Amino acid sequence: MLQGKHIVLGITGGIAAYKSAQLTRLLKKRGARVSVVMTESAKQFITPLTFASLTGDAVYDDLWQNRSSADSNITHINLTREADAMLIAPCTANTMAKIAHGMADDLLTNLVLARDSSRCPLAIAPAMNMQMWANPATQRNLKLIKHDGIHVFGPASGEQACGEVGDGRMLEAAELAQAIESLFVTQSLKGKKVLITAGPTFEAIDPVRGLTNRSSGKMGYALAHAAACAGAQVTLVSGPTHLDTPFQVTRVDVESAQGMLDACLQYSSQSDIFIAVAAVADWRTANVATHKIKKQDDNDVPMLTFVQNPDILQTIASRNNPPYCVGFAAETEHLIEFGQRKRLKKGIPLLIANNGPAAFGADDNQVVLLDDAGIHELPKQSKISLAHTLVAEIAQRLN
Ligand SMILES: Cc1cc2nc3c(=O)[nH]c(=O)nc-3n(C[C@H](O)[C@H](O)[C@H](O)COP(=O)(O)O)c2cc1C
Repeated sequence: MLQGKHIVLGITGGIAAYKSAQLTRLLKKRGARVSVVMTESAKQFITPLTFASLTGDAVYDDLWQNRSSADSNITHINLTREADAMLIAPCTANTMAKIAHGMADDLLTNLVLARDSSRCPLAIAPAMNMQMWANPATQRNLKLIKHDGIHVFGPASGEQACGEVGDGRMLEAAELAQAIESLFVTQSLKGKKVLITAGPTFEAIDPVRGLTNRSSGKMGYALAHAAACAGAQVTLVSGPTHLDTPFQVTRVDVESAQGMLDACLQYSSQSDIFIAVAAVADWRTANVATHKIKKQDDNDVPMLTFVQNPDILQTIASRNNPPYCVGFAAETEHLIEFGQRKRLKKGIPLLIANNGPAAFGADDNQVVLLDDAGIHELPKQSKISLAHTLVAEIAQRLN
């Protein structure tokens, strides 16, 4: 979503300014052009050189700089006129107060005021001591800022630089890089509750061994992120993965197919949409050994007996008043034929078929959408970009 976007990143004078260097890198990595604007106080915490090196561009820090050049005479207006979005991270209590009251005594606050808010949205990531954050003046300013349509990311709660524990920590760079994507996504799922399963399941054989599969969870996590960006309240029921929880997604960790079903049953009745992406094991061992199965001295190997696992998607889809159910099918052959059969058997409106071995663990995916209207093939793309497309497709069918 950030590919080719021009983002003005404002940095103000808080300890969390060190996180903005990492944020700059992440935004650049996602294809954005980043122009950094720093307040005088920000330069006490981190040098402009750091950002000039990371962006490969000049850092803007002075309302009066380059006044001799006609071209740059109006930086305080031009920079956000050309930009697609502006993010101030960290945003101090002082800068929040100035924004709330329309003050413009430095380059950053001039840019905030002079931007065309219909085409350059502004988001702030407040960062301050918990008492500063709780102060009635800051809370009053926060209300004004929100009322003016400015997005507020965070703050988080936790241990602060001063040693106190409470609200006021700036979100992590990775969370902010995800949060800013939501500024570019149509809020097609606003007010909707979405339940998503992701990753593999793990079926224990004994206390140290188990059956699993090669699913990485990337597709399900990307969908959870895309749905959250589109305004949904997302619950992600996840099998074991190494992935970070997407920003503003509630994650419920499970291990086995039965554990995943139990969690889905708990959340599905309050959900508008259920997307089953997890690669759920079809079978589990009939009896999990209490102790580690010992290797025999002779060539005897243990005999395992399997029983069928519950079908999570079919169980949810066949309940009274089910959510809009979307299934994923990973096949190795006859993708469309097997996919259609699966969709009809499970009684679901939409099935997304992909090639299992090609999709598992990869960053890209190619899928075919199967519904009552027929077959709709999507081009191969990154799972992140595909997730945004799929969310738009689902929202369109739901509405
Ligand atoms: C060591 C130190 C750390 C500070 N950390 C913060 C902070 O995290 N958040 C904040 O709102 N102000 C913080 N301040 C106060 C701001 O730097 C101060 O209010 C300044 O005027 C902000 O200017 P600016 O908003 O133009 O960047 C800190 C000050 C010092 C000396």
